[in-house]
Amino acid sequence: MTFSETITDWYAACGRDLPWRRTRDPYAVWLSEIILQQTRVAQGWAYWERFMERFPTVEDLAAAPEDEVLRLWQGLGYYSRARNLHTAAKQIVAMGGFPSTLEGIRSLKGVGDYTAAAIGSIAFGLPAAVVDGNVYRVLARYFGIATPVGTSAAKKEFTELAQRLLPVDSPAAFNQGMMDFGATCCTPVNPACLTCPLQPSCRAFKEGRVDLLPVKQAPAKPVERHLTYVYVRFQGQTAIHRRGPGDIWQGLWEPWLTDEVPAGAKPVVQGFKHQLTHRTLLADFWLWEPAGRPGLPEGYVWIEEAELDAYAKPRLFELILGKL
Ligand code: ADE
Ligand code: SF4
Repeated sequence: MTFSETITDWYAACGRDLPWRRTRDPYAVWLSEIILQQTRVAQGWAYWERFMERFPTVEDLAAAPEDEVLRLWQGLGYYSRARNLHTAAKQIVAMGGFPSTLEGIRSLKGVGDYTAAAIGSIAFGLPAAVVDGNVYRVLARYFGIATPVGTSAAKKEFTELAQRLLPVDSPAAFNQGMMDFGATCCTPVNPACLTCPLQPSCRAFKEGRVDLLPVKQAPAKPVERHLTYVYVRFQGQTAIHRRGPGDIWQGLWEPWLTDEVPAGAKPVVQGFKHQLTHRTLLADFWLWEPAGRPGLPEGYVWIEEAELDAYAKPRLFELILGKL
């Protein structure tokens, strides 16, 4: 049996019986998907029922005052979801009905790739695979894929794989099977491998790597970074080096970067704050005027201070040069 058949068979036998799965009304399906974006099924269930009771159609929701929609949403959090829901209801009414293409569904406020694929497959049978953390986990383990999740490479790889596996005749069962299978069987910790129907051909199980997959991206670099520069001045010359690849300021020139400030160096600025897009730099800057020409670490060169202008420098360096 193929992976996809196993998932759809498992879904038929073990899938959760949820009220929004008893309808193909796109409005009801859409409402469930928006609620479940950041809410667990157990908590979202009652909200879905309340919304369906108070607003049985998209026209009812569109015509409601925003206050009432927000009040009904109270307790679910992420209130932008409720405002987007209301906006999208008006969009749908203005379109003359619920859009039935993936692009149309994707154009609704608050609907991203995952939600569009879920609604499209469940309500319209469109062959669009959902891809989220559950799907990453099941696929990474079953196929033994070690691409770190959270990268754009992983998104592309897992999306293409899920799309290839999606059976065009039962996209709804496959997608919801993946959701439920990831939530109840192939769970993040203590997955039920011993009773898992995929186990006979699961690569991670075979290789004893279940706990190692999926691979998480390395933790983000610290948001604050300290840099200590020593500006050497000797006979009108200074020492600089060019920054290499794999870090900030690739290819730009900066003064001597060191953890050890030579004795006799004088502080120019301490804790100088400089904001980059993803981190805050805190720079200490020292001026050192040695009596004899010092040796330089590898990669550094002497240049005339008067020529500094001609070198491409990080803005931080230029700012501090003004303080010398
Ligand atoms: N989470 C997101 N969409 C879902 C759905 N249709 N069923 C169960 N859980 C979900
Ligand atoms: Fe997941 Fe274990 Fe099943 Fe493999 S055998 S798919 S790791 S539950």
